Amino acid sequence: MRNEELVDKIIKLKERRNAVILAHNYQLGEVQDIADFAGDSLELSQNAAKTNADVIVFCGVHFMAETAVILSPDKTVLLPASNAGCPMADMANAVQLKEKKREHPQAMVVSYVNTTAEVKAESDICCTSANAAGVVESLDTGEILFVPDRNLGHYVSTKTDKKMILWPGFCPTHVRILPQHILKAKEEYPGAVVVVHPECMAEVIALADEVLSTGGMVRYVRQNRAEDIILGTEIGMIHRLRKENPEKRYIPATEQAICPDMKLITLEKILRALEEMSPRVKVPEDIRIRAKVAVDRMLSIV
Ligand code: 13P
Ligand code: SF4
Repeated sequence: MRNEELVDKIIKLKERRNAVILAHNYQLGEVQDIADFAGDSLELSQNAAKTNADVIVFCGVHFMAETAVILSPDKTVLLPASNAGCPMADMANAVQLKEKKREHPQAMVVSYVNTTAEVKAESDICCTSANAAGVVESLDTGEILFVPDRNLGHYVSTKTDKKMILWPGFCPTHVRILPQHILKAKEEYPGAVVVVHPECMAEVIALADEVLSTGGMVRYVRQNRAEDIILGTEIGMIHRLRKENPEKRYIPATEQAICPDMKLITLEKILRALEEMSPRVKVPEDIRIRAKVAVDRMLSIV
């Protein structure tokens, strides 16, 4: 089937099902284009919390769809590729976290939304890359156990006086971006600004002009006059930026920064998910209720 036919069928079926399509900024261009809303993790969870639709088709990875279920248990949440996971989220589980909490009984647990629902259920509060430093600062404690991204955690530690205990997780896509990639791009485009995601390694962040969530990048590029932008993040980001600001030049630090899980969702899979109302994401109710406390707490302070 041609893309136009697929898009036509998806739009008709979406209306019949009273569904909304949410897409992360790293999704394939054609998937972002068909979405009712494309954004970063924080914006997507805010949207999932307030939509009136009966069905959410979540074009992202598993933890994002789980967050939608946590916030909207009465809605049907579909993840068109059931195997779209986040390797970083899988680097922490509830058993390991309970053990770490015993080692650091004074610490409050801040979990990045890139975690499973059972890890969120063991956490005091969640954060995203857009609000991590603000969340940490908002807490009435001097000691934070930060799970699972050690790079985001390290970046936050440079913005706070609190003691940060870092989990050893990382994003396999963002650690592919190396300082030499940024240095080489800066040499080729001397007037360019360097914008990176906080999941990058500290050595890369040290070379950046701006460290932003994917939603922050959209706003920055919209408002900033710079014409050349070196991007230290997943390359799907360029589709969104180019669509909104076609006159600017986007230079990926490396073409290797691709998240394979984010690319699993296609127009065909979205159509099939809407036809079959599957694969559906579910979260056991006892875990959902505890995880919701941590997510709601985050949403109440941003
Ligand atoms: P954002 O919240 O910045 O969109 O990041 C999500 C993510 O998974 C980055 O790898
Ligand atoms: Fe997870 Fe990294 Fe992919 Fe984001 S880019 S979903 S953190 S593996």
